[in-house]
Amino acid sequence: MMQGRALVTGASGGIGEALARIHAAEGGELVLVARSETRLQALRDELVAAHGVSVDVIVQDLAQPGAAQRVYEQTQSLGLEIDILINNAGFGGHGKFHERSLAREQQMMQLNMVTLTELTHLYVQGMVANGSGKILNVSSTAGFMPGPLQAVYYATKAYVNSFSQAIANELQDTGVTVTALCPGAVDTGFQEAGDLEGVDMWKLAVSAESVARCGYRAMEKGKLLVINQKVLAAALRGVVPLLPRKLLLKVSRTAMEKR
Ligand SMILES: NC(=O)c1ccc[n+]([C@@H]2O[C@H](COP(=O)([O-])OP(=O)(O)OC[C@H]3O[C@@H](n4cnc5c(N)ncnc54)[C@H](OP(=O)(O)O)[C@@H]3O)[C@@H](O)[C@H]2O)c1
Repeated sequence: MMQGRALVTGASGGIGEALARIHAAEGGELVLVARSETRLQALRDELVAAHGVSVDVIVQDLAQPGAAQRVYEQTQSLGLEIDILINNAGFGGHGKFHERSLAREQQMMQLNMVTLTELTHLYVQGMVANGSGKILNVSSTAGFMPGPLQAVYYATKAYVNSFSQAIANELQDTGVTVTALCPGAVDTGFQEAGDLEGVDMWKLAVSAESVARCGYRAMEKGKLLVINQKVLAAALRGVVPLLPRKLLLKVSRTAMEKR
């Protein structure tokens, strides 16, 4: 059983919603953050009714500069201490970098990296002071290689993997753990949001619930990094690092081509 208050970004759907459901079922309190107010409120009402836990909603576009500070100030003014930070909100985007909108890439970098980093910095202070806390960063198997046709997305997840592991090491004597969850394809709104329909990889998608369960358990145990599928974990750890770079780029690109 893991209790305490968890702040979950991107809790209005997909993996974030599934993580929020697990935490509420464990008897934990929640702060749900995303842009879709109606969906967050419906989830709050459902979790309060089902589990009798306290749930707060913060509606915020986390791709905007300054969003992390605004979320932090709201939790401070509501007197909500955060024991668990789940940085889950993120999106991808298909296409050649030079043909994609720069504004969209900027929003992606802001959400997937900058807001994640800022929220971590803001909330880790209280955790260190308390001598306990957990941070779960929802990253991706994309973080293990360059990704032609999703160049910026893959790079944002390489950042999340690197950053998460480095601060996990720095925090090792503080009682605060940091876990990176690296899923492969998951059946959520991600494919549509990132214009990824027609990419074959999502035919193999697993459920958001299964990924959330795996990530939540890894976070409970304070694991450094977890890949939810055994086959993927074996390939990423045992094969990918050995491949010549040009071959890896070819394989990686083929996986992102639309049919
Ligand atoms: N699905 C996959 O195949 C897959 C694979 C590996 C990793 N991941 C990672 O898993 C995480 C969750 O994605 P998902 O698959 O659950 O996708 P999803 O179903 O599209 O959910 C994304 C969540 O992020 C929120 N979000 C998006 N943009 C936001 C913004 N500007 N401000 C605030 N919240 C925002 C969305 O809420 P609103 O729209 O209400 O704001 C939603 O709750 C992401 O970091 C993604 O990179 C996904």
